[in-house]
Amino acid sequence: MPSDTSHPWWHTGVIYQIYPRSFNDSTGNGVGDLGGVIDKLDYLSETLDVDALWLSPFYPSPMADFGYDVADFTDVHPLFGDLETFDRLVAEAHTRGLKVIVDFVPNHSSDQHAWFVESRSSRDNPRRDWYVWQNPRPDGDPPNNWLSVFGGPAWTFDEATGQYYLHSFLKEQPDLNWRNPAVREAMFDAMRFWLDRGVDGFRIDVAHFIMKDPMMRDNPLNPSPDGDFYKPMGEYDSQIHLYNKGHEDIHDVFRELRRIVDTYPDERPRMTVGEIHLFDWAEWARYYGDDLDELHMPFNFSLLHADRNAAALRRLVDQLEAALPPGAWPNYVLGNHDEPRLASRYGEAGSRLAAMLLLTLRGTPTLYYGDELGMRQADIPPDQQQDPWGRRVPGLGRDGCRTPMAWTDEPGAGFTTAPTPWLPLHDDYAARNVTRQRQDPASLLNLYRRLLALRKTAPALQTGAYRLLDDAPDDCYVFVRESDTQRLVVALNFSDAPQRITLPSPGRLLVSTNPDRDEEAVGETLALDGHEGVILTRAEGD
Ligand code: NOJ
Repeated sequence: MPSDTSHPWWHTGVIYQIYPRSFNDSTGNGVGDLGGVIDKLDYLSETLDVDALWLSPFYPSPMADFGYDVADFTDVHPLFGDLETFDRLVAEAHTRGLKVIVDFVPNHSSDQHAWFVESRSSRDNPRRDWYVWQNPRPDGDPPNNWLSVFGGPAWTFDEATGQYYLHSFLKEQPDLNWRNPAVREAMFDAMRFWLDRGVDGFRIDVAHFIMKDPMMRDNPLNPSPDGDFYKPMGEYDSQIHLYNKGHEDIHDVFRELRRIVDTYPDERPRMTVGEIHLFDWAEWARYYGDDLDELHMPFNFSLLHADRNAAALRRLVDQLEAALPPGAWPNYVLGNHDEPRLASRYGEAGSRLAAMLLLTLRGTPTLYYGDELGMRQADIPPDQQQDPWGRRVPGLGRDGCRTPMAWTDEPGAGFTTAPTPWLPLHDDYAARNVTRQRQDPASLLNLYRRLLALRKTAPALQTGAYRLLDDAPDDCYVFVRESDTQRLVVALNFSDAPQRITLPSPGRLLVSTNPDRDEEAVGETLALDGHEGVILTRAEGD
């Protein structure tokens, strides 16, 4: 059955995130590149059959934050290729029916960006106001108490011009001043540059950070030891981050940004998905826009930090569905380049359940490269750590989820021919890699392939309604996905113990997380093994 054409591709499709440094190295220098991505497009379109790839930054950058410090918003870092390689990637992806989403980093640039070099050159430089500069307090201290996410103050003093500049992340990542119309126009022009080159969408980095309190007030101190993030963030947790991000005016900016994206032709709708770490549902949902006129979707990161049990998941999905503005489209994420690996959070059997959960909930799933193999969080020895966050705040490093993709059991894992990849390979790569898992019918990769294939042909999974079956045993999360033509039941057992579930009607198993159960007929009672998940269709004739 073809995809439902009344929905845009980003409703029905599955997004696959590629961290370009770590996906495939076509030049033999130990760092992945765009040519390497081109060489693996068949893996995405045929082996997995996902619909879109999202590329983390590939722009010129001194790599202080591995590309999230952009020195030119409209070019390609020579490490990754050039604009011609990028154009080829888009063309080759489109030939295979794959959409291309690029990372857009609006909150900050690199301190090496020509704009910042000019801005810091003197107080009266025409680009001074492209960044956020403030005088010191009378005692010489920074203008307010704002902290950098990556540790320490969010302000760095510039000796030459006698003012502080703001950086919500590293001091090598000065924040752009989005209150300056010239900055907005320049950044929108950068988006147009990529839209004109054919990209299908943008993932917008820390989207909620771009507008701050115009009065630059001090953040209140945090009376509780927990921060407003979902994981301990060290010193950053000592404040409530009221004024350094998410100012009300941000919604005007996203309305304007959306108008620009919407000027691109209807037959090829482009999309935006914002990285928004807000855990108040109502506040988060505002980024869709009052009239769905802001971001197409704010990323929903709630699954990343949810407890891994049926009750917590039921509650979370209920909360999300209730928070969505009418007509807004949901989405789910279980891993990315900032989070500990999915398989290390969920374990062996849990990873199979997680795959089924992500690919059956109502909304767009985003998969992180390597999670389809169950790649584990790697333990990177301190002297080989690369991530600046981990080097500044021990324990918060993100290298462990960024190790090179494991393609084969050869030296270099089929990722590189270089003797030393930019980050060490995970030490289990010889056992856990694409080649090996393709050959094993029971592998996690083959489970992902079955789930992706089913999702592609099942209108109920792509766009059907979601309904909780609330009479299931406490440890089981059971829901119905239903379209005009199809009704599927998804039953996930989050306990070690076998469980029995009463079904609304007899059915047939389409996919089980346990090998060898597919196509089994089931009466009105479904028996699930510990940590088993299944998708059922109605029995013929029912
Ligand atoms: C969020 C990105 O996902 C992360 O990797 C990066 O370090 C920060 N934004 C700063 O750009």
